[in-house]
Amino acid sequence: MNRVFSGIQPTGSLHLGNYLGALKRFVEMQDDYECIYCIVDLHAITMPYDPAELRANTREVTAGFLASGLDPERCVIFNQSQCPMHPRLGWMLSCLTPLGWLNRMTQFKEKAGKKREQASLGLYGYPVLQAADIIGYHATHVPVGEDQKQHLELSRDIAGAFNRQFGVDFFPLPEPVITGEATRVMSLRDGTKKMSKSDESDYSRINLNDDRDTIALKFRKARTDSEPGVTYDAENRPEASNLITIYAALADTSRQAVVDDYASAQFSDFKKALTELAVEKLGPVGEEMKRLMADPGYVDGVLKDGAERARAIAMPIQDEVEEIMGFLKA
Ligand code: AMP
Ligand code: TRP
Repeated sequence: MNRVFSGIQPTGSLHLGNYLGALKRFVEMQDDYECIYCIVDLHAITMPYDPAELRANTREVTAGFLASGLDPERCVIFNQSQCPMHPRLGWMLSCLTPLGWLNRMTQFKEKAGKKREQASLGLYGYPVLQAADIIGYHATHVPVGEDQKQHLELSRDIAGAFNRQFGVDFFPLPEPVITGEATRVMSLRDGTKKMSKSDESDYSRINLNDDRDTIALKFRKARTDSEPGVTYDAENRPEASNLITIYAALADTSRQAVVDDYASAQFSDFKKALTELAVEKLGPVGEEMKRLMADPGYVDGVLKDGAERARAIAMPIQDEVEEIMGFLKA
């Protein structure tokens, strides 16, 4: 059986990187797989946060899922804290995970930065909770952006460690699905930095809820270089290459096809075309998000129904885990 699981943190606005690297893939996969998509609120508290913002962001990310085209009838959409499997299995898996494996995680090093002594135990254990998210549903495929590759490898290692330790063939090893042209979308201000929620410049990213004028303005202001033509060269023309990548992903074509199409064009003309394409594709998503945000009752209903369905899948698996691990249910 094939089952898809993926998650996005409710830590701020969804941006074009989330959309092209993850959400578009989520939407495509709902046609062919049983899909479970999670707003990972338990991961969002691994860094300092504000409770009111967490609640608002959880609704906003849910609205972003729906506005991008996820169908709550066909897939399970819920927030992680509402299914008790996640922290339960997370704890159990943390007892099987050697510290040496966690010490290699680059995301922890980036997020903790120089303040390693102040970083929380939760931030350190973040990838173990992520493994629980995935394998606790017996998920086989996990669509993510490039930056999650290392966490997915760890999830496979943890699933394998459980199977070996208890002599069972219980958890399938989940496959990362890192496909498409835009698995790593870069900042619009600096082509060597990943587009991210945490960049202090709002001009570095397109937010999924930006209106049409804002989208157009941000693309117009996007940094480029002085070369006149449209050529892909990630090393020497990082900003221009990122815009080509974004165009290809938005148009569902390849970078090569974009470069061929604009072979005789000036870069400024290409940028105009990209701006139009982005407004056409992303404008309606932002508008639908706004409409959904005005109807929190509907959004909460989707999450409530999703949580029930998530629990119905995960809790029987969790029961089996506890049986295998030797917990007495008297
Ligand atoms: P996060 O916002 O960190 O919870 O990420 C949610 C999903 O979006 C993950 O699958 C990430 O790999 C993906 N993602 C985040 N930033 C980018 C980016 N700049 N380019 C491509 N994918 C991204
Ligand atoms: N760590 C992922 C990120 O920052 C989010 C995430 C949490 C996730 N649990 C997951 C992604 C399970 C895929 C599957 O992007």
